[in-house]
Amino acid sequence: MEDNMLYIGVDLGTSAVKLLLMDSEGKIINIVSKEYPLYFPHPGWSEQNPEDWYQQTMAGIRELIAGADRSQVAGISFGGQMHGLVILDKEDRVIRPAILWNDGRTGEETEYLNTVIGREKLSEYTANIAFAGFTAPKLLWVKNKEPENFARIAKIMLPKDYIAYKLTGVHCTDVSDASGMLLFDVKNRRWSGEMCGICGIRPDQLAKCYESFETVGTLLPEIARELGIPASVKVAAGAGDNAAAAVGTGTVGDGMCNISLGTSGTIFISSKKFGVDRHNALHSFAHADGSYHLMGCMLSAASCNKWWMDDIIGTGDYRAEQQAIEKLGENPVYFLPYLMGERSPHNDPDARAVFLGMSMDTTRADMTQAVLEGVAFALRDSLEVAKSLGIELTRTKICGGGAKSALWKKIIANVLNLKVDVLESEEGPAMGGAMLAAVACGEYKSVEEIAAKVVKIVETVEPEADLVEKYQERYRKFKEIYPVCRPLFHI
Ligand code: XUL
Repeated sequence: MEDNMLYIGVDLGTSAVKLLLMDSEGKIINIVSKEYPLYFPHPGWSEQNPEDWYQQTMAGIRELIAGADRSQVAGISFGGQMHGLVILDKEDRVIRPAILWNDGRTGEETEYLNTVIGREKLSEYTANIAFAGFTAPKLLWVKNKEPENFARIAKIMLPKDYIAYKLTGVHCTDVSDASGMLLFDVKNRRWSGEMCGICGIRPDQLAKCYESFETVGTLLPEIARELGIPASVKVAAGAGDNAAAAVGTGTVGDGMCNISLGTSGTIFISSKKFGVDRHNALHSFAHADGSYHLMGCMLSAASCNKWWMDDIIGTGDYRAEQQAIEKLGENPVYFLPYLMGERSPHNDPDARAVFLGMSMDTTRADMTQAVLEGVAFALRDSLEVAKSLGIELTRTKICGGGAKSALWKKIIANVLNLKVDVLESEEGPAMGGAMLAAVACGEYKSVEEIAAKVVKIVETVEPEADLVEKYQERYRKFKEIYPVCRPLFHI
């Protein structure tokens, strides 16, 4: 290996694709972000066009490497929004817009899988039960509602895998992302024949599944020419964005935790051993480092704050709004952050957001604070499930757009009573993607080795005893709100 090679990490997110250029030592050379539209064709539905992802990824890569020595680029890999259904016909053309991870249209199919097939069977075959956002219920929805599209399916892919296909011509996926399809036998890291039967698909309609750090191919000659980089550039399978973020934040090995505050909010716990949450509230998935993890996922996290700031109060100055927040732990206003329904732990696509507890003296700052706190309380719901399984955590890493806010990190540290380790960059999945590419290229022997070498903690936010106590009290009340509202969401 020549001395300073370059690696590209592509984080195919929901609001934008973020691209990161890293050198052999793990130094970040450049970061670029390109947005694309998100469509909500019906309340609770969420779709994107795979072609938009591809065009913006290509534009992003060009911009990312514009000032770099392009001959040094050695590898590309991904973190990608999980669970999205991308279907291709036999000419590899996209059949319909992708149905995304935060789409709630599959209530009936999810119910069918969990009750008629049954949670026990699903858990035996895949280590998980059905959630509305998972891929298998979406396939059943297409089968039921769009049979002409279903009949045309030649390949079923996940979002980032469509980009890998466009770059290399190879139909591939990886174990961490495959885990979220409910078609994958997580324990044995292979497709589940039983689940293919249940969904009415053939195993050859699924892509070949790799470990995240394995090479799936090299660039197609026309792509290499278009980007001006060597055709020998290796493309590694990459990971679902949460597993990639875990790599990027050094959440590998046993018992480490990462919180991601992106469009979704996740709490990710790495584990050397395979394990299933007996309540099936946390997902049991394969990790990008060759092992496993448990994860709780809330569907709207930083997106709640974005919605509140951009769409409701109409400001782009998040910092100024947060500066007006003074009294932590004493806010009488509560916010249920279920703008797109909720996944962990409620599994309720019909849940909706709620503000509760306002009075005539409630201020705009109280409402903003309630939004930030509501997301933290909902993350704590998943942490409580982990604790009930005997998992003991004292600290967590943090990444995602929301992690830019010092106030939000402080709220998270105190609501969850965890030390929050802050890293050099909050670009978890893009960094993880670049690191997986470096492992695939042989620059490092393993994901654990590169994580130990390149991930650097720059600050730790410590919980404060008096605030932890105040938030404990308020969390007790937060927990009471959803069960009371639940029947109203289902009328
Ligand atoms: C995880 C999940 C989300 C998406 C966001 O299960 O659905 O975190 O991966 O991109």
